[in-house]
Amino acid sequence: MRDLSLHILDIAENSITAGAKKIVIRIAEDEEKDVYSISVEDDGPGMDDKMRSKVEDPFFTTNGKKKFGLGLPLLKQAALECDGQFNVRSGTGEGTTIFASFKRSHIDRKPLGDIGSTMLALICGHPQTRYILFYEKDGFRYGFDTDALTESLEGMPVNIPEVLMSIRNSINESVGGRDRSKPAAGVPDCANRQKEMKRNRRKSVE
Ligand SMILES: Nc1ncnc2c1ncn2[C@@H]1O[C@H](COP(=O)(O)OP(=O)(O)O)[C@@H](O)[C@H]1O
Ligand SMILES: [Mg+2]
Repeated sequence: MRDLSLHILDIAENSITAGAKKIVIRIAEDEEKDVYSISVEDDGPGMDDKMRSKVEDPFFTTNGKKKFGLGLPLLKQAALECDGQFNVRSGTGEGTTIFASFKRSHIDRKPLGDIGSTMLALICGHPQTRYILFYEKDGFRYGFDTDALTESLEGMPVNIPEVLMSIRNSINESVGGRDRSKPAAGVPDCANRQKEMKRNRRKSVE
């Protein structure tokens, strides 16, 4: 996977598949401690101990169409390669939280990338879900919440190009801009983002 925002899309899609109604994504950078961390928390059905012990295995998936479940193993590998940590916290009826951290200055630590487009792909693909994004870096805090957004739009639909573009740009300026991600330009193409993520996942295993 090329960047962390594509991992985040992949992990958040697990939550959606599991039936989550609310997904909280946290990104935190600590320059002093040299830690970069991401987490995806959902209010889905969670997993029992038996299942939780299997999800880090690349050959475990509940997606009947596939033989491999690579989303979690790829993120774990990325974190451990960068002297970081990975864990899955989950219990039946308690939702799931996936946490990955990286040594921030590690040469192989992937950049965050286009987190604005990841959020758009989620919003467009599954608009019924509530998404909350928190970003924190050395005292700077940024938050985005689709419920607050819907309220501020006063009836205007979210999925029109002007609104989508402003969401993506505002997220990228506040969060991604601090990571020097390549800014996305033009009209958002949410479906393309999913394809990009899947292409990236395939490349990671080749
Ligand atoms: N947030 C979640 N809630 C419930 N189950 C999950 C969640 N994330 C992952 N899983 C379970 O772990 C399995 C492996 O996930 P993953 O590694 O992303 O592979 P894949 O999504 O391709 O199956 C999924 O098939 C699913 O059964
Ligand atoms: Mg997955």
